[in-house]
Amino acid sequence: MLHSKIVNTLQADKGTLTSLVTRMQAMLLNIVLASFVFLSCIRDGSAGITSSFVRSAFPAVDMPVDHEVFAVPKGYNAPQQVHITQGDYDGKAVIISWVTPDEPGPRHVQYGTSKNNYKTSKESTVANYTFYNYKSGYIHHCLVEGLEYSTKYYYRIGSGDCAREFWFETPPKIGPDTPYKFGIIGDLGQTFNSLSTLEHYIESGGQAVLYVGDLSYSDQHDNKDNGLRWDTWGRFAEMSAAYQPWMWNVGNHEVEFLPEVGEVIPFKNYLYRYTTPYLASHSSSPLWYAVRRASAHIIVLSSYSPFVKYTPQYIWLKQELARVDRKKTPWLFVIMHKPLYNSNTAHYMEGEAMRSVFESWFVQYKVDVIFAGHVHAYERSYRYSNIDYNITSGRRYPVPDKSAPIYITIGDGGNLEGLASRYLDPQPEYSAFREASYGHATLEIKNRTHAIYHWYRNDDGVKVPADSLVLHNQYWGYIGRKQNQLIEEVSNIE
Ligand SMILES: *[C@@H]1O[C@H](CO)[C@@H](O)[C@H](O)[C@H]1NC(C)=O
Ligand SMILES: *[C@@H]1O[C@H](CO)[C@@H](O)[C@H](O)[C@H]1NC(C)=O
Ligand SMILES: *[C@@H]1O[C@H](CO)[C@@H](O)[C@H](O)[C@H]1NC(C)=O
Ligand SMILES: [Fe+2]
Repeated sequence: MLHSKIVNTLQADKGTLTSLVTRMQAMLLNIVLASFVFLSCIRDGSAGITSSFVRSAFPAVDMPVDHEVFAVPKGYNAPQQVHITQGDYDGKAVIISWVTPDEPGPRHVQYGTSKNNYKTSKESTVANYTFYNYKSGYIHHCLVEGLEYSTKYYYRIGSGDCAREFWFETPPKIGPDTPYKFGIIGDLGQTFNSLSTLEHYIESGGQAVLYVGDLSYSDQHDNKDNGLRWDTWGRFAEMSAAYQPWMWNVGNHEVEFLPEVGEVIPFKNYLYRYTTPYLASHSSSPLWYAVRRASAHIIVLSSYSPFVKYTPQYIWLKQELARVDRKKTPWLFVIMHKPLYNSNTAHYMEGEAMRSVFESWFVQYKVDVIFAGHVHAYERSYRYSNIDYNITSGRRYPVPDKSAPIYITIGDGGNLEGLASRYLDPQPEYSAFREASYGHATLEIKNRTHAIYHWYRNDDGVKVPADSLVLHNQYWGYIGRKQNQLIEEVSNIE
């Protein structure tokens, strides 16, 4: 399962120091913001909005290991940390993953279309590993193929009294007008804020999660507790991830390059535990891949793997973009960890390298939305591009571009590093809305032309919609625009 071929990671950004600094900055800024509420409502010459909402201070600390959301299921060797992801290109397969703590078996998943009537059974592959002084449980991945579309499946893992039962629904067959509701979550971690985010997402009722990277933040704990905090995160995320697929993606906290304790294989914990259907999209690495689901084509990129010209990820993306068929899947979304457009002072311009390599493709292929995380706040851009710039053209400013994607930064899941509360002032022209709060988003595709997007702020435990849009499809909307100049690109429905 572990693809150690992919060890040539360019950036082993462990980030301990930087995150400590970020946390301290965030704490200080919270105090400053609390005392100058009115100052945070900035509206410069452009139409962009910097939200005046100021979140009251709330500790950004991980929930204690004995918190009920981390509870180990009762019984000897009971399966835990259950999560599923799409298992093929088009959604007729899932990969069911779980951990058994005491012994490798039983390995089978039993499943069927009605409860307690598990007609079919499939064996998992099992692996275990060590990380510094931690020994993992037995990690199972089971590919369940040949499912029917739009069908509810019940599944059971484990045996006897310790068996556990879950369910999931397969997506509809891919098609241009197939409605579907995605959730978007990033940088979740395992704090009390993370719990609000996840509970609010479950309330929002999405059907599958596009996850923009940085999962457990285990690397922010003492090395001896690292493996343990991957396990608690797995048990926490189960409340959603056992029932609907999460499309996984890596962030810097998955790199975990720790030569000081002899751990030098990047993404080791992540790759053992989280799997992706990368072979189905002809990718050579689980770190970048694509799936099609309902009316969407979703491309997942690794911000922490080589991506410049001639690298595997570059060659793969070029080929994958050419495979996109907007007549079958009108909606094209790209997920990555580092945002390409970000006006928060946190991680400012870290995405420039990837932007300079891939942005012209994203414009050429009319990507609808690019979702990223990394910055612990929320930001949405207008359709802007900066593809005319080269080292002699002198055209160095992003410009409005109807073919460009909307960039959404949603690294606001609520992890222990706290919020990134400081924005560049004045707000750059490309930035439409920005707010330093925790939250999640949903993207509800209605048909080939329309999708409704909402970002929900946690607001100390209450779910509040704080940014909403009607998205007009970049391919079908574009055809429409040519015929009818009146069709608006993006209309704010608030
Ligand atoms: C995996 O588990 C087996 C026992 O089933 C144990 O002998 C082995 O040492 C473990 N491997 C690692 C890498 O921990
Ligand atoms: C760079 O910009 C200049 C001026 O616009 C243009 O003539 C030239 O072709 C560009 N070079 C590349 C490699 O795009
Ligand atoms: C697509 O959905 C939007 C929003 O629900 C609706 O207004 C529009 O009429 C639909 N278009 C078609 C072709 O069904
Ligand atoms: Fe990050």
